[in-house]
Amino acid sequence: MLVLKRHWIRLLFRIHQMKLLAGSPGAIFRGYSAHLEPGGKAYDRHLKQEIEEYRRVHGGGGEATSKPNIPLIEPAPASWLDIQGRAATRIRDATGDDMYGHVLSRLCARKGVRMLSLGSGPGGLELQFAREARSAKIECIDLNAGLLEKGCAQAASEGLAVEFRQGDLNTILLPPEKFDLVFCHASLHHLLELEHIFHQIKRTLKTRGELIVIDVITRHGYRMWPETRKVIDKIWKTLPAAYRVNHTSYHVKMIDERIVDADSRRSNMECIRSEDILPLLEAGFETSAYVPFYSLCRRLFDTMYGPNYDLARALDRAILDWLWALDCYYLGTGVLKPETFFGIYRPKR
Ligand SMILES: C[S@@+](CC[C@H](N)C(=O)[O-])C[C@H]1O[C@@H](n2cnc3c(N)ncnc32)[C@H](O)[C@@H]1O
Repeated sequence: MLVLKRHWIRLLFRIHQMKLLAGSPGAIFRGYSAHLEPGGKAYDRHLKQEIEEYRRVHGGGGEATSKPNIPLIEPAPASWLDIQGRAATRIRDATGDDMYGHVLSRLCARKGVRMLSLGSGPGGLELQFAREARSAKIECIDLNAGLLEKGCAQAASEGLAVEFRQGDLNTILLPPEKFDLVFCHASLHHLLELEHIFHQIKRTLKTRGELIVIDVITRHGYRMWPETRKVIDKIWKTLPAAYRVNHTSYHVKMIDERIVDADSRRSNMECIRSEDILPLLEAGFETSAYVPFYSLCRRLFDTMYGPNYDLARALDRAILDWLWALDCYYLGTGVLKPETFFGIYRPKR
């Protein structure tokens, strides 16, 4: 009886939450993530996990470094860098330039262009922009103070005009009409309060300001869409064991009989609301460029399985070429959805 009562109370609470969300501006049902609220205990646990994860990704420590010219970019296997190069070509073919070129040309368009990078990590990309666009003023915001310290030390050692500021993008208030460009590189899919940050981006952009984004748009929690899963499962069966070694999920490297497709939202912010990014962008911004990519490749070549490929070996190279071709085919025919996109946006006023 008591169990039944609890069940009804939970159900009523869920209905209440859905009603609240339906009434909020730009409402999209937040499903699983609805129980996470900034300031709450579960939220704090997720953020801690987020900070720890990127501390580990960037080599632990968290301490500032005075060594000049360290890359400060997330380490990636050669296969993933190769795939990223192909995506850059795809963006260039569709829009006349790649992501790097689009940002740089805007930073160099005139003196004193101001750019804000949200979720910059240690700012490896932003420091490189600053080296090439000497008159631009760049501000980086990230949650992770340890990473920001590394970027800050590097900027100081080279005399670059890049400032680093710690902040939580789910709650941050940005100054009005300050920036010509806002740059989000692989950060939006870590955010819970997307409506909030899009509102803040609109507020902080000057009248003709733009937002440039590259981000991950998988199913919430970095899960695969069912149709993607079907194709990947078939591919998986054809791959020799050496290509199915998992390098990141366990304490030791292990061969996966099935490809990992876990829901990351249980423990961290990875893809916490990734399905909502595009619809919210389209609702609040005019799209000047949109290039979707990666229907399959992200799953097979990033840090989890990517180290299995040695691009000097003919078979590895052939598998990579084949999967890239298949990825483009499935994307082009609309059979599979993209898991990543590049876009340039202007606020709807
Ligand atoms: C995938 S990394 C991308 C870093 C960098 N933009 C890049 O492309 O190398 C995601 C970054 O978002 C940051 N992040 C996650 N949640 C955040 C939040 N609520 N506020 C600010 N930064 C956040 C993380 O600390 C991490 O540095």
